[in-house]
Amino acid sequence: MKKIFVIGGAGYVGSKLVSTLLQKDYFVTVFDLMIYGNNLPKKNKNLKIIKGDVRNIEKLKLFLKNHDVVIHLACISNDPSFELNPKLGQEINFDCFEPLILAAKDAGIKHFIYASSSSVYGVKDIPNVTEESSLEPLTDYSKFKAKCEEILLSKTNANFIGSIIRPATVCGYSPRQRLDLVVNILTNFAYHKNKIKIFGGSQLRPNIHIDDMVDSYICLIEADTNKISNQIFNVGFENHSVEKLAKMVKDNINKNVDIEYVKSNDNRSYHINSDKISKKLGFTPKKNINEAIKDLIKAFEKKIFKNTFDNEEFFNIKKMQNINLK
Ligand SMILES: NC(=O)c1ccc[n+]([C@@H]2O[C@H](COP(=O)([O-])OP(=O)(O)OC[C@H]3O[C@@H](n4cnc5c(N)ncnc54)[C@H](O)[C@@H]3O)[C@@H](O)[C@H]2O)c1
Repeated sequence: MKKIFVIGGAGYVGSKLVSTLLQKDYFVTVFDLMIYGNNLPKKNKNLKIIKGDVRNIEKLKLFLKNHDVVIHLACISNDPSFELNPKLGQEINFDCFEPLILAAKDAGIKHFIYASSSSVYGVKDIPNVTEESSLEPLTDYSKFKAKCEEILLSKTNANFIGSIIRPATVCGYSPRQRLDLVVNILTNFAYHKNKIKIFGGSQLRPNIHIDDMVDSYICLIEADTNKISNQIFNVGFENHSVEKLAKMVKDNINKNVDIEYVKSNDNRSYHINSDKISKKLGFTPKKNINEAIKDLIKAFEKKIFKNTFDNEEFFNIKKMQNINLK
């Protein structure tokens, strides 16, 4: 049984990934600062949970040994929360990356998977943004993602392979919910306020259902080494405009939902092509955005989440502002 070490495993993607890994009988260690709490499965003999900071390489070293794969998800995610404290963002998202890679290599990790972002491409007019497209990251968050990719690829060898995922924006339900991502934001407003405000509307936003996001990491863990070694994969599914997303959300809600259009100067469109992971690894997403919307609505109906507009647990920026992490 492979042993998987997930850094940032208590986050939105991580907590869903960890549950799925456990269901598949992997042994999992989660190393996370628990900024958004701990919503991981309780009392599972195959799960070890360590509260720790990825900047604390000495602590990481104590636990990395005897694992096969590292999946690195820990990050001050999304641009505005990153810009709250640029120094903190740089320390977590970039400065500790090379020491982490060296520690993983030293500990005998065989495969290091890095969660980058499709935002590394910046805004492109070309119809197909593939892994070969040039990187034009626009923010510190995406610049550091691009630099970390380079570092990982420069440190790999036959015994320490690296692979990189560039995800689209993720949507849907997770035990650690985020309500600051486009489809999730629209669904929250439509369900609870019967109103959606769209800024602009024609901008494209690539999305991926959280269950498919999780499956893409598992696909990498289980793939043949020669197919994934030093490889970069876009992972997205539907590239829809924000207006289309809003209409999809509206169509899923059994109440009248007003869509208000607000003029915006920010008409940046993002879109990606994810054919490579399908052709090379046979990975195709199984769930669409509609299913992510439905899953969220079900969670809202069950009242699983309290205060979906004011509870900082659902909003990375609000949370980071309030905890004053140094
Ligand atoms: N969610 C998306 O739409 C999306 C899109 C593209 C890329 N990604 C990337 O995927 C990864 C996971 O995203 P997510 O949505 O689950 O984010 P998230 O913010 O929900 O999770 C990040 C986790 O990292 C932990 N963390 C943060 N700083 C840490 C530190 N210093 N030490 C240890 N743990 C720390 C947090 O406690 C949290 O549990 C990130 O790297 C993100 O950049 C996400």
